[in-house]
Amino acid sequence: PIRQRLLVVANRLPVSAVRRGEDCWSLEISAGGLVSALLGVKEFEARWIGWAGVNVPDEVGQRALTRALAEKRCIPVFLDEEIVHQYYNGYCNNILWPLFHYLGLPQEDRLATTRSFQSQFTAYQKANQMFADVVNKHYEEGDVVWCHDYHLMFLPKCLKDYNSKMKVGWFLHTPFPSSEIHGLCHLDQNYYVHFHTYDYARHFVSACTRILGLEGTPEGVEDQGRLTRVAAFPIGIDSERFIRALEVPKVQEHIKELKERFSGRKVMLGVDRLDMIKGIPQKILAFEKFLEENPYWRDKVVLLQIAVPTRTDVPEYQKLTSQVHEIVGRINGRFGTLTAVPIHHLDRSLDFHALCALYAVTELDEKYALYQTSYIGHAVLENNEVGQKYDYTKRSSINFDSGNESNVENQGNGLTSDHFLESLDLLRLEPSQLDSSICTSNALSYHAAGLLSSSRIQICDVALVTSLRDGMNLVSYEFVACQDSKRGVLILSEFAGAAQSLGAGAILVNPWNITEVASAIGQALNMPAEEREKRHRHNFEHVTTHTAQQWAEFFVSELNDTVIEAQQRI
Ligand code: UDP
Ligand code: G6P
Repeated sequence: PIRQRLLVVANRLPVSAVRRGEDCWSLEISAGGLVSALLGVKEFEARWIGWAGVNVPDEVGQRALTRALAEKRCIPVFLDEEIVHQYYNGYCNNILWPLFHYLGLPQEDRLATTRSFQSQFTAYQKANQMFADVVNKHYEEGDVVWCHDYHLMFLPKCLKDYNSKMKVGWFLHTPFPSSEIHGLCHLDQNYYVHFHTYDYARHFVSACTRILGLEGTPEGVEDQGRLTRVAAFPIGIDSERFIRALEVPKVQEHIKELKERFSGRKVMLGVDRLDMIKGIPQKILAFEKFLEENPYWRDKVVLLQIAVPTRTDVPEYQKLTSQVHEIVGRINGRFGTLTAVPIHHLDRSLDFHALCALYAVTELDEKYALYQTSYIGHAVLENNEVGQKYDYTKRSSINFDSGNESNVENQGNGLTSDHFLESLDLLRLEPSQLDSSICTSNALSYHAAGLLSSSRIQICDVALVTSLRDGMNLVSYEFVACQDSKRGVLILSEFAGAAQSLGAGAILVNPWNITEVASAIGQALNMPAEEREKRHRHNFEHVTTHTAQQWAEFFVSELNDTVIEAQQRI
């Protein structure tokens, strides 16, 4: 049987083009969640239609790029500089993006935006029509057309104007805000629109009923007998691709380098496009607060922030970049030493293998485990009779009673019985092995050293996702997929769509509340292995069973059903 063709239409193609000569192009994978998720959709006969991220004014260049893209099953939509300025930088990223993420326009931009609104809106409509023209040219009967994201909200309508029989659906990768905050909605005449979460879908329906006066039904919205189906089905990742990548020698090599680089310290990881919705300043300020309040940790933890440059022609993004640099500089000046700084901030993107290595970087600190174990072992010994066999599995019988605990704390290291148990776990020691022969601080250290050199000890890392709003946030999914052997902790904003699926496993935080995030950092760094395991299991299970492929299959089957139903209605 011939597989149904899927035409995926998004502003951003999975590859962006860089010109190397008059008719010579190189293609690089584009950044962002939309592209990552769609790259995970494999079991379809898919064609991509979109913008390659460059202005190509000449015909020679256009022809050469079209050929190069065809090898990747991509079809370009050529947008000239002016359209990109008005439609992409202006209407999409300066108006719709902040609006959909509940971020107001900056004061000084309000008037300017009001003035340019009309021309940008016109450019938006025009751009959507240009996408429709290309889709229409390549459309074959029976194809399913899947439009993506806030850039292309007019596209379904334009396509229906060409051909009312086209099977068209639209998926929004961002939140859809509640209806008080927007006055725009041109989504009638669709067959099918689809969101990450029920909240977003509900907001959409209420916007249609309140602003457009359409009728809301359990399936969606109805306009003079025409039903637009509305549904929620969250996106996922190709988890297998990440899990497999961890075995690739190149990734292993990267991991080794990273481990050497950060040996002696725990790694907290942030991976975001440098976008205001990601709450990067908030994250860094929370980290500063954590360092401020926990002197013990200052030389033992590092925040590694990958900030992928994005939409760099939009002034708001330029401002954010300098703001973040300023904060990072200040904090590094404050807590750095001659040899180390607490924040490593990189304004760059990473290739897939380097990214996987970062998500997976193990053994954030072998020495730390050693130190912690022997130190606590020592404290235990000092406070208890040497040679006695303890039952460390029962907290009550751990001789970390209040007196001893404060004793440990008095030594200024902040370590507790939980740390000790965790260390045992890290060293793969059964409590029953802890008899007098091993329970001296030196013996523990030796034992640890032996284990460390002979096997890989997995120690937890932490990922920090502090989005102020985020449609889903796939970085959190990818981190979970790469942490199966380490069971690292995910600190996740309650305002990311992912909070609805990974909420039970992550530590949820309000990113605006810096005190709360700082204490979540402490909680994550000190979390006992058992709890980490439990939380990770939950998330890993979700990430590996809710994949990008399933997401696409759900969409296609729903759309096919919807069309059949609509035909029956006539
Ligand atoms: N990513 C990337 N290049 C990088 C770092 C990350 O393409 O240098 C990817 C990352 O793997 C993830 C996506 O960018 O799939 C970000 O998706 P997310 O949903 O977290 O946020 P978005 O950028 O779409 O707002
Ligand atoms: C978000 C949007 C995508 C977009 C991506 C990267 O994920 O939902 O539509 O492609 O950011 O942004 P850019 O403007 O570079 O395409």
